[in-house]
Amino acid sequence: MPGKSSRGKERFFITTPIFYLNDTAHIGHAYTMIVCDALARWHRLLGKDVFFLTGTDENSGKTRQGARKFGYKNVAKYADFMSSKWRNTWKKLGMSNDDFIRTTSSRHRKTVEEFYMKVFKNRDIYKGSYRGLYCESCEAFYTEKDLKGGKCPVHKILPQALEEENYFFRLSKYESRLLEHIKENPNFIRPETRKREIVNLIRDGLRDISISRPGRGWGIPLPNDREHVFWVWFDALVNYISANPSRWPADIHVMAKDILRFHAIIWPAMLMSAEYPLPRMIFAHGFFTVNGEKISKSLGNAIDPVYMAGKYGTDALRYFLLREIPLGEDGDFSEEALKQRLNNELANDLGNLLSRALTMAEKFGGKIKGEPDPGLVKSLKPKRIMERVERLEIHHALDEIWGFIRAANRYINEKEPWRLEGERLGEVLYNVLESLRIISILISAFLPETSEKINSQLGVKTGSLEGLEFRPFSGRPKKGEILFRKAR
Ligand code: MSP
Repeated sequence: MPGKSSRGKERFFITTPIFYLNDTAHIGHAYTMIVCDALARWHRLLGKDVFFLTGTDENSGKTRQGARKFGYKNVAKYADFMSSKWRNTWKKLGMSNDDFIRTTSSRHRKTVEEFYMKVFKNRDIYKGSYRGLYCESCEAFYTEKDLKGGKCPVHKILPQALEEENYFFRLSKYESRLLEHIKENPNFIRPETRKREIVNLIRDGLRDISISRPGRGWGIPLPNDREHVFWVWFDALVNYISANPSRWPADIHVMAKDILRFHAIIWPAMLMSAEYPLPRMIFAHGFFTVNGEKISKSLGNAIDPVYMAGKYGTDALRYFLLREIPLGEDGDFSEEALKQRLNNELANDLGNLLSRALTMAEKFGGKIKGEPDPGLVKSLKPKRIMERVERLEIHHALDEIWGFIRAANRYINEKEPWRLEGERLGEVLYNVLESLRIISILISAFLPETSEKINSQLGVKTGSLEGLEFRPFSGRPKKGEILFRKAR
């Protein structure tokens, strides 16, 4: 059961991964943020007390790499600079996150220390010597069998052979409890194909993992041995609690498939050991390519989401990403495909609907009232839309909403209001404006700016989900700027 807040509202807690500071955000990171932002806004619309968390993962070798690359001598200063760059990127994209956690903050460090001491007291930490193959980019050790052709399966680079004294976490102890939890909670790991991969990994056998490195300055020292710092993942995962301990457990952790095993194996085992409840769902979306190629700075195809939003509008970018790629599947970013959706679905279907309606409404001096058209009412399916979002099929939800938008356009074409006047015109206008008011509510989580623009042109207040039915129209329509400019 989802938790209740003190105000009696149902709570909803959603997270993104916290991002590394070796570089700025690209379109792949923005995708995760936009998905989470849309879900956060949807649950606010449902009247829930939402907590949407993101942040930056700073106690990693990647922060040092970034400092070197950007010419900073002082790593902490660099972390401040780069973390605020991420924070600003999300602001510019209109993200509605409620908090932004930095893992160099004292609130985080304190929670990590407490968390570790619980695990330690439960006898799940021991000291040993580690020999292994370490991928600098993953910040993780691999076994021979994890590698592909001797290389890291994610970064395709040769791992380093390392031997050092480490503290270990008894991950192996949690094999059967993890399998049991996954079995008893069918929605714990989504989608299904990813869940199967995780179950297979656990069934193959889990080894204890090293969770510390001999300290070399950057990182959180172990509270019971200051010569060591935490392995970055042990520290980073705890961000989901440290941001706001009273919010735990999360309803959904969203990430791409690259880091699912950290979230779906190591994190739940850590939580079991420290005696915390587990998150309700761990959802891995797919990986993004650009024009068919893996996103990488060296290929020069790491698209800047702020640039794209500036060029086409934030809502067009959001719409494209949410509509084009079924959540969970891999997808491709292409400007051509974005333009097509912008021109057809946004400018033609939605933009024209609003501008046609308002042009007519402005000319019309009579009363905007009448009976809801049965055909239009039938094509509005709020329950189906809600179910689709609930099942995280955002692209299907959008498709349903567009079905209604197209029905409203068809309604205008069929009624030919340009031939009508008086009460009969008032009734057609009533139906079209009421449809637009409802559309504005339905799209508000996905296209928040557009929804506000529609409300202001209709002269109606921001709606809630209770408003998803035809009522008497009470707005004061006034034509404003066009919603979407077509792209060439
Ligand atoms: N710092 C870790 C996460 C720690 S969470 C406790 C990390 N950071 S990251 O900066 O590399 O971000 C990885 C995440 O960014 C992915 O899981 C995904 O959410 C997003 N993406 C990065 N590149 C992406 C694509 N090409 N496609 C889709 N998502 C992408 O891992």
